[in-house]
Amino acid sequence: MNSAILDSQFSIFNSKYYILTFGCQMNVHDSEKLAGILSGMGYSEAPAPGDADVIVVNTCCIRDTAEKRIYGNIGSLKGLKKKNKNLIIAVVGCMTRQDGAAEALLEKFPFIDIILGASNEHTLGEKIAELLNKEKRRSIIDSHTPDDPEIIEDGKVVRTSFPNGWVNIMYGCDNFCSYCIVPYVRGRERSRDLSLILKEITELLEDGYKEITLLGQNVNSYKSNDYGFTELLKAAGALPFKYRLRFMTSHPKDFSSSIIDAIRDNKNIARAVHLPVQSGSDSVLKAMNRRYTRERYLEIISGIRAEIPEAGLTTDIMVGFPGETEDDFSETLDLVQKARFSNAFTFVYSPRKGTAAAEMEQIPYAVKKDRIARLIALQNKITREESETCVGKSYEVLAESEAKEGILAGRTESGRMVNFEGDKGLIGRFIDVKIERAKAAALWGKV
Ligand code: 5AD
Ligand code: SF4
Repeated sequence: MNSAILDSQFSIFNSKYYILTFGCQMNVHDSEKLAGILSGMGYSEAPAPGDADVIVVNTCCIRDTAEKRIYGNIGSLKGLKKKNKNLIIAVVGCMTRQDGAAEALLEKFPFIDIILGASNEHTLGEKIAELLNKEKRRSIIDSHTPDDPEIIEDGKVVRTSFPNGWVNIMYGCDNFCSYCIVPYVRGRERSRDLSLILKEITELLEDGYKEITLLGQNVNSYKSNDYGFTELLKAAGALPFKYRLRFMTSHPKDFSSSIIDAIRDNKNIARAVHLPVQSGSDSVLKAMNRRYTRERYLEIISGIRAEIPEAGLTTDIMVGFPGETEDDFSETLDLVQKARFSNAFTFVYSPRKGTAAAEMEQIPYAVKKDRIARLIALQNKITREESETCVGKSYEVLAESEAKEGILAGRTESGRMVNFEGDKGLIGRFIDVKIERAKAAALWGKV
């Protein structure tokens, strides 16, 4: 533990923390690390924000909708602060790093005590100690992201996603897709040491974890000494345990056929690929700075289907990017029809201050709304049809959580959600389930 914390005069006996997490899996795992810092200081987890002495809001800024929701949530903490003057409120993560964001947050919510950027979160404990040691409370801001933030190893982690363990393999992004804020708030790409990653995975598997998800903004550009992502996949997949290895997110421009071969040849690597396409139009892809064409994308998908026919393919798609014409959008619909994703995350483009696309001429909201509705309708139809093909077949499902009492939720290797009757003692076990019905959100089956 940091000496600033050990030297501090305050007592945190019986104190509790509550973490509110927004955004992607990377943030979920960052929150596990924040929980590690707080529990290392002696805090325990509070059942609800009202019971907490420290509330941490871990933010996301990928779209305007996320930011609005977070603003609403921070606003609702004001009442708790009024009731408990000693309550510490920390706002951390991606949102705080944007130009002027920290100042704007403090102006709107002067009751925030600590603001930290995504790459300064490991200092949360020191900042809390500093605050508690001060005679008079003053807000602490440290949200700057250097271009090349150092990788922090060996921090304690309180895991919250058993039987899945999140493992960071790289941080940051160098791609600068023209719509995306991530490179600005998370800094440049940097990869963790291969041996440290394998050690972390091995420890998780020894502790009974059955699924490992490798995390990175662009996992395909992982590089540590002479090892690339394929070598990492092969090494992790060869560990002597039965488990599922997943990874996200891949970038089509860096997705090589050696990854497909590794998945095909190693039974621990789940037959599932999440490959964001964003658009089916070459001119939009170019303006997005994605650096692949629709033809290349479809070629990668054919390669995956040829080698691993049972693979689950999912994607991210955006509509309403500046300059997207009706013809461009038709190309996206056409690609969706050809690719037949088992599922797709669909988004309305939202301008992000500081990115190249925010400066381009925007298209009206009504047009975006119409397109997203048509895209969702098409993908829902495909998802339903693809799900129907599973009925009557049996799959090995990893029981992951209790959906409601007596009903478990898990996933097939290809990533499809399955609900089935079972006791929660089965969570973390591989179970053969026969699919009886396909519903909108999940398949339903019997053990
Ligand atoms: N507006 C809308 N969606 C976005 N995404 C990233 N940036 C934006 C933006 N400015 C989407 C992309 C990405 C996913 C995580 O979020 O589809 O793959
Ligand atoms: Fe954003 Fe593109 Fe990097 Fe993904 S690859 S994080 S979309 S800039």
